[in-house]
Amino acid sequence: MTERPVLGIDIGGSGIKGAPVDLTVGEFATKRLRIETPQHSTPKNVAAVVKEIVDHFADQIGDGPIGITIPAVVTHGQTRSAANIDKSWIDAPAEQIFEDQLGRGIVLVNDADAAGVAEVQYGAAKGHPGLVLMTTLGTGIGSALIYRGVLIPNSELGHIEVDGHDAESRAAASIKDKTGMSYQDYAKRLQRYYEVVEALFWPDLIVVGGGVSKDSDEFLPHLDLKTKIVPAELRNKAGIIGAAWLAHDAEEHPDPIPRAT
Ligand code: BGC
Repeated sequence: MTERPVLGIDIGGSGIKGAPVDLTVGEFATKRLRIETPQHSTPKNVAAVVKEIVDHFADQIGDGPIGITIPAVVTHGQTRSAANIDKSWIDAPAEQIFEDQLGRGIVLVNDADAAGVAEVQYGAAKGHPGLVLMTTLGTGIGSALIYRGVLIPNSELGHIEVDGHDAESRAAASIKDKTGMSYQDYAKRLQRYYEVVEALFWPDLIVVGGGVSKDSDEFLPHLDLKTKIVPAELRNKAGIIGAAWLAHDAEEHPDPIPRAT
């Protein structure tokens, strides 16, 4: 493992948060910094905020790549979708845009993928030897599939069809908040969602993250699934920690497929 902390940055719809991560223990080495996401969240505007965060921590981090998460599908450095960020991210050469702005290497990953990796490395699924499915219940539903410690990126299981609906349009935590639904009713929606997902993937363990996971006592006991289902442990730190871990890992295992530009 590296000696110097690796910077992880989590880009969300409302805030952009970063912290240097001590990868030997999977914890923030310093207090995180949060800056509001620009109203017009284009690649250029977001990259300017990311630069502020990188400059803020410059003295504390090594010169290897930094990890950045984004609520989008990311293949070989290109963002292919855009959830809760400006649509101009679709098909943008995002890694290149960040690197040009920052003058250093970066590794860009889907937000839920980063959170899943963090839970497998340091959290609720630490060292799990089988197939782990991480789901983040927030504005949308994010997912990460990790098999024997290896991430299968961009699973996007928030968008499977359940009872004729895009799953996240029924079972994201934001829908519960918007409609004032009780946890008992919300659990019924989650029951349908996880039932469909488990019939397709047969995971060994499901981890539930996102802000709502802090109230997991209110809904997990109502679920009746074949798969063990547990709350995430790293909470809102998971994205930053997973991004930093993946950035370090990419130095040792670079993507063999050339980056799209
Ligand atoms: C997006 C995913 C993202 C998730 C959580 C979904 O709507 O399609 O890429 O991981 O929201 O932010």
